Order: sequence, then structure tokens, then C-alpha cells
Amino acid sequence: MPRRPIVAIDGPAASGKSTTAQAVAQALGFCHVDSGAVYRAVTLVALEGLGAPESWEGARVAAEAAARRVSATPRGSRLEVTVGGVAVGGAVRTAPVTKEVSRVAAMPAVRDFVNGLLREAASGGGVVMDGRDIGTVVFPDAEVKVFLVADPEERAKRRLLEGGRSLDACSIRDEAALLEARDAQDAGRAVAPLRAAADAVPLDTTRLSFAEQVRQVVALVRDREAAP
Ligand code: DC
Repeated sequence: MPRRPIVAIDGPAASGKSTTAQAVAQALGFCHVDSGAVYRAVTLVALEGLGAPESWEGARVAAEAAARRVSATPRGSRLEVTVGGVAVGGAVRTAPVTKEVSRVAAMPAVRDFVNGLLREAASGGGVVMDGRDIGTVVFPDAEVKVFLVADPEERAKRRLLEGGRSLDACSIRDEAALLEARDAQDAGRAVAPLRAAADAVPLDTTRLSFAEQVRQVVALVRDREAAP
């Protein structure tokens, strides 16, 4: 059987990367590799072992992650992220991790460490990986690259709905402003800034249903697999 493709899905916060990647992987029988979860696991071990976050330095954080054996292994349709051989599960989604992860993900030594794990996890092909720099840095040769975008107001509404919060005009405006600030931070950082790869297919999901957006990405992969 030919090697199956690597599908890179990048885009700004709340553009639906992770849910789309998950559904696309399911439709294709691929593994969904959530790269953000690996950055979160590194942040978790730093919080556990390195004291005050203000004192963290990239090389030490990466060394701690290696010493604690942070690893990422495809298991069927999902990536299993482990620390010392134990699956981390929801422990990487807590507020303290979410608060520090952005800073940790901006450390070059940490990015090198995580990219090594991601490349290893995808070495067999047949993965859908979502993140910020998958099509530009991690897999510049990915067979399929998609860059998801959506208007800030639409992304804000999706985020509020996800959190079970009210959709009044004021909340939408505040949430959209937060998302735009995070986009600017991710796009403006010196290391692996958020940007579309030159050969990525842009997909604006503002007016697409979720099913339609998944269908379009799946079609791109099938076209690619059918191409000689
Ligand atoms: O998608 P998420 O919220 O789980 O991502 C966690 C953090 O990691 C977020 O601050 C962005 C960062 N990240 C990154 O810099 N590069 C990636 N490939 C994936 C996530």
C-alpha cells in the first residue's frame, strides 16, 4: 500500500483547526496529531519541576521535558501524549498550563524538541496535524496544506458557544478583541510566526458549515491521493 499523506492544518486561534483536523482524520482513517497538546505537556512538566515561570529559560525547559520523557505516539485515530510513560489526558488543559503555554511555545529550544517528537509521530504518514507552523516549519513537504481563516466575530461566536457563554454583542466584541490580540502575538513572534505556507490552500470558514469545511479538506486529500 502506498504511504498515505501528511495533512497540515494551520490557522489562527479559534479557527476550528483542531475540530476540523479530528473530523478529517476520522473520515480518512488517519491519526489526528494535536501539536498544541505536546506544547502543553512540556508546559506541564515545567510547572511541576522548574519553579516560578518568570525564571524559565528555553534550554532548561527542553531539558526538563526530555528528562521527564515527554513523548507523543500515534494510537489509532489519536495522538497519545505521555510523561514518564503515563498518558497526560486532560491535565494539559488546566488554566495554569493554558496561561504559560504561549510563552513556552515561543522558546526555540522547546520548538526544536517538540518538532522532533512531531516528525517522529508522523513518520509513517497517514496523519492530520494541526498547529501554527506545521506547513511552514514542521512539514514543509506535507502533501496537503490547509490554512483555515474566519472573521474574528465568527471565531468569537464559536468560542463563546463552546464555553456555553452568552452571545450578546458586547461579549462577541470583547472575545473578538482577545482573539485578534492573540493572532497578532502569534503572527508577530520571532520564532515560527503564524503565517500561511506559500503552497497552502486558504479556506475561509466564516460562511461554511462545519460539515462543508470538513468535506472540502477531505476532498483535497482524496484528490491528492488520486493524483499520479
Ligand atoms: O492549540 P492550543 O491552544 O492547544 O495550543 C497551545 C499553545 O501552543 C498555543 O499558545 C499555540 C502554541 N502552538 C504553537 O506555537 N505551535 C503549534 N504547532 C501548536 C501550538
